[in-house]
Amino acid sequence: MADAIIWSVGGYAPPHIITNKRLSERMDTSDEWIQTRTGIRERRSAGDEETTATASIQSGKAALEASEFEAEDLDWVVVCTDTPEMWSPATACFVQDALGARQASAIDLTGGCAGFLQTLQIMSPLAQAGKRLLVIGTELLTHALNWNDRSTAVLFGDGSSAFLMGPSDAGHGGIRIGPGLSRSDGSQTDILGKPYGGTRYAITPELVREGRLHTIRMEGPKVFKHAVTMMSDIGRRVIQEAQLGLEQIDWVVPHQANQRIIDAVTHQVGIPAERVFSHVARFANTGSASIGLAMSDMLDQRLIKPGQRLLSVAFGAGFSWASQLFFVDQVPPAQFIHAGEPV
Ligand code: UT7
Repeated sequence: MADAIIWSVGGYAPPHIITNKRLSERMDTSDEWIQTRTGIRERRSAGDEETTATASIQSGKAALEASEFEAEDLDWVVVCTDTPEMWSPATACFVQDALGARQASAIDLTGGCAGFLQTLQIMSPLAQAGKRLLVIGTELLTHALNWNDRSTAVLFGDGSSAFLMGPSDAGHGGIRIGPGLSRSDGSQTDILGKPYGGTRYAITPELVREGRLHTIRMEGPKVFKHAVTMMSDIGRRVIQEAQLGLEQIDWVVPHQANQRIIDAVTHQVGIPAERVFSHVARFANTGSASIGLAMSDMLDQRLIKPGQRLLSVAFGAGFSWASQLFFVDQVPPAQFIHAGEPV
């Protein structure tokens, strides 16, 4: 059977840069606190003029333009997001229309910060079966933040990334999707999420008066602890199941939530810091966009070379967590749109 291959990669970091200093003018925080606790220096914001669909179109177009394919060649457009364009229809339908992917079926998937790896694991068999897919991870998390809650408002940013994928027997090289695993623990749904605004807690004037907004809420230290334990465990298991040694992993591409979490996980797995990619300082936590955005940046910086093995680990709301191996048969073409200005 064919393998699933990432044929090209697109990344989009919106143009507004919000520095820690800017946030400290707006709330009771400081650059020093944020950098020490998280490693974050700045994050991107899409501003009011953009939506999840427009950001997804940017990264989707970037991936298509970098490739030899046209939108009409696509069988599937998939958007993984926790900040959708609207409840219904799927964000992916807006993207499919704007790109002109007239032969494609479009659907959204939601899985928190582990969602992009889960989506790759769900979609890879379709690529193996010969389908061409545009798999996009997008978050406009700055639209979902409570700007009065300093413990969450400083952590997140906006971004979008896209993988164009297909089968290995179609004559196009790229990054092969290797073994992966994902797990969930739905007994922890109250620790991290955006609980209000759904069917359980519909937004009412009373809820708004009580300050229960349709924004992210999180018990940070609990998430921190679980994130380190679960990502270390699942990362090690995927390496073991693939019968690889730690020295055979050239890069760890972790979910970019907090530098301290990244350091703790890679220390526990036993991978030296110089083989771990992090750009959390520049882009903060972009949820479902995070791992694709990291890969997009790595390709832009020419850090990914033929023959390398990459290990991704992610953890987020649910809780859900995942790990995925990638084998670089050939460096795929990529386009990373990341010019920005401080606001
Ligand atoms: O992708 C998964 C999504 N989420 C994450 O990965 C985040 C996981 N959690 C974390 O990254 C960390 O737990 C945080 C960065 C959120 C917090 O770091 P911490 O070292 O666990 O700090 P803490 O929550 O224990 O807070 C320490 C103090 C508290 O003050 P007191 O009670 O000690 O006086 C907070 O009120 O820091 C205070 N604090 C802040 N101070 C300045 C919390 N947020 C801020 C802030 N600026 N932004």
